[in-house]
Amino acid sequence: MAAFNDLVFSGVQPTGNLHLGNYLGAVKRFVEMQARDAQCLYCVVDMHAITLWQDPAELKTQIREVTAAFLAAGIDPKRSIVFNQSQVPAHAELAWIFNCVARLGWLNRMTQFKDKAGKDRENASIGLYAYPVLMAADILAYRATHVPVGEDQKQHLELTRDIAQKFNNDFSGSIAAHGHGDAFFPVTEPLIGGPAARVMSLRDGTKKMSKSDPSDNSRINLTDDADAIANKVRKAKTDPEPLPSEVAGLAGRPEADNLVGIFAALKDTTREAVLADYGGGQFSAFKGALVELAVEILAPLGAEMKRLVAEPEHIDAVLFDGAERADAIAAPTLDAVKDIVGFVRRPRLRSV
Ligand code: TYM
Repeated sequence: MAAFNDLVFSGVQPTGNLHLGNYLGAVKRFVEMQARDAQCLYCVVDMHAITLWQDPAELKTQIREVTAAFLAAGIDPKRSIVFNQSQVPAHAELAWIFNCVARLGWLNRMTQFKDKAGKDRENASIGLYAYPVLMAADILAYRATHVPVGEDQKQHLELTRDIAQKFNNDFSGSIAAHGHGDAFFPVTEPLIGGPAARVMSLRDGTKKMSKSDPSDNSRINLTDDADAIANKVRKAKTDPEPLPSEVAGLAGRPEADNLVGIFAALKDTTREAVLADYGGGQFSAFKGALVELAVEILAPLGAEMKRLVAEPEHIDAVLFDGAERADAIAAPTLDAVKDIVGFVRRPRLRSV
């Protein structure tokens, strides 16, 4: 196989209510990846957002709010590339080519489409159906090798791998003839893990914490203040048993498992270590410690987000600079793809 340089890509939708699941499952891990050697690209995926109806004025605000969350969490826009998807044309262009590589049967298996489209599938947008193909284009426009995401994106990343492999196979002759060896796209590695890969609702430990849950008490929003965080943790559903001393004792206790996982992720430790400290104790004491920890980490993050959102010119400048740097990587990749596919294209100075 061809060798690819390590490159990290991930995206977050600007659809409102960024929550603890987004932070622990994704954004916090983006910051950790940045400390390594690889180039990281973090994208506010506004083109994905419009697969469901978005109010235009709100969408703009939310694009800036997700960017603010990235920066407030510690993503350094000089070191990483922070941008919004619609500013880089390669995403849409490559998505079209991938629409012609991906098979209907593959998309028909996507569980998120089924969940989001609901019963009235005839009325879902074509964009919602093709959503995972655009996601593959996001990742592969940079030939990204690693994608940190929460557990709910696993199936989409498998599709990305299938699309990369089918493109490499379908066009193998042309890929070699254009000097790219035996593979043009890497088979991307999903990075899913840690104690908070799937943060659950605070009201129901069997349901994912989600922006679209009608109950605001089901999630901790990144913009919640200390009082709101404390209230939501205190009200979080639990069961009558004390906390177990071993991880095996969390089986069949989804609410307990969720709170212990959240604690572990916030503290950068493991469920085992949390239970070594709190196992055998009642939930009330554990919840008190969780409130303290969550407020210590999330309250300053939310305050910094609000400060940054109040300076939209600064945010827009970060996004513009990021888009130029992203485009400098993606545009030559797209040129190479067009050559491989057999399009006649405008000449450009840069090449991969
Ligand atoms: P989105 O915007 O729904 O969520 C952003 C990230 O947060 C993670 N996440 C969670 N992690 C743990 N527990 C939860 N309850 C939870 N809820 C959300 C998601 O897994 C995700 O990592 N399709 C993507 C956006 C996207 C993308 C991409 C991601 C578009 N293009 C390319 C990676 C690479 C999405 O809807 O994420």
